[in-house]
Amino acid sequence: MFLAVGTPEEAAGPTWHGEIAAIVATHCGSCHRDDGPAPFTLQRYEDVAGRANFIEAVVRERLMPPWLPGSAGLPIRDHRGLPEDDIKAITDWVRAGKPIGTAGAEPATVKATAGAAPDLRLAMPEPWIMPAEGGENWGRRQRDKRTFVLPMNNAEALKVTALAYASEAPQAVHAVTFLADATGTARYTDDREVGPGHYMTGDVRDRPTGVMGGVGVGMRSLALPPGFHWEVEPWSEAVMEVHYRPTGREQHLRESLDLWFTDDPASRPVRTMVSMVRQVSVDAEETQRVHDTYTLPVDVDIIGFTPRATGVITSMNLNATWPDGASRVLLDIPDYDPHWRQAYLLEAPVRLPAGTRIGGSWVLENTLDNARNPFVPLERYVTGRRTGAVAILLHGAAADAAEDAQLRRWHSDLMMARQRPR
Ligand code: HEC
Repeated sequence: MFLAVGTPEEAAGPTWHGEIAAIVATHCGSCHRDDGPAPFTLQRYEDVAGRANFIEAVVRERLMPPWLPGSAGLPIRDHRGLPEDDIKAITDWVRAGKPIGTAGAEPATVKATAGAAPDLRLAMPEPWIMPAEGGENWGRRQRDKRTFVLPMNNAEALKVTALAYASEAPQAVHAVTFLADATGTARYTDDREVGPGHYMTGDVRDRPTGVMGGVGVGMRSLALPPGFHWEVEPWSEAVMEVHYRPTGREQHLRESLDLWFTDDPASRPVRTMVSMVRQVSVDAEETQRVHDTYTLPVDVDIIGFTPRATGVITSMNLNATWPDGASRVLLDIPDYDPHWRQAYLLEAPVRLPAGTRIGGSWVLENTLDNARNPFVPLERYVTGRRTGAVAILLHGAAADAAEDAQLRRWHSDLMMARQRPR
């Protein structure tokens, strides 16, 4: 007598231990784990098999894993999207009845990133109590952001190569953007409000937060490519603009930021160039496309982007037109959802020559067709200083370090010119 051990067809199909556990660990595990930002864990067979049909549907419709950039732009590092083969494996696995297969030597789990200890840890001395509900802000919307200012106490300039953010309420906090301020402005604003942090954008004068990038849901750290750093002037304060979603109960936010430095004299400072439209007015039922362009004064190696917009924006992109007329898309976000925004670093730096024209464009849909329109019933949608401009930040360094000062001066003039009334 023979024991049936499964047909060859069955053996050939995907199993939990064969393929699925690894796919889920790689593409879902950064969020769907204990202490992660997602509402449930996807770590064990039971977690996944128990909601397999739902998982199959959100994966096939590309709702999960969340990933905003489309394929038209430059290749982005740590791309989170699922390859077509993996989607098919999940579909086949669910159709075949979720076979568990044979356990291998080691169960697939997400490995914690073990790295060097940070050179500086900034932590809020006391928590801010996030209210159960946001309450109205100036723009007919739930209050959903808070800016925290932490002294760095640095007697010397610092060259920051990496940062990591930790939240005490990971399911409530989504996008966080960073800036280092040596002007005292952020501290002054913060001191006018009682308790930790303040209710304003983290922008300092003409510099938007995000000039040192930002982190998002399931992506809490940012490491610049070798040879680049963010420059922090002596006696700076770290500014963190935290976007959160009130969860219906009070929560403590006691956030921290770890920083890593370099002392490599050859490292180049990353500057952030801002594509921005400061004021927008979109009538109810109206869809509007807005643009902004500038021209690079020197050769620049670009390393990444931080999108910055909330409200009724449904898509955005950044283009480059070379001096010879050739053009290409740098960043394309065809279906923008501010909830999932973060900084995007390129797989490899890309050089843009002096004279390259950078064009940003954004689509604002103040309609009911925009399923994410936070302003219903419809009314005219206006952005201004307080509600935040629409922007895409471009991070890059002068290709020739000797031209860095020129790049900075040019950019500062550009930002000043935009502030003047037209
Ligand atoms: C970047 C973090 C992140 C990653 C990666 C991620 N998820 Fe999610 N997922 C979430 C969050 C957060 C929610 C809660 C819904 C929300 O906030 O919009 C969620 C919700 C879900 C839901 C419920 C659907 C819903 O609309 O509420 C399913 C099912 C799901 N995820 C499956 C997956 C699977 C399968 C993967 C991997 C292929 C994955 N997720 C990867 C963060 C993530």
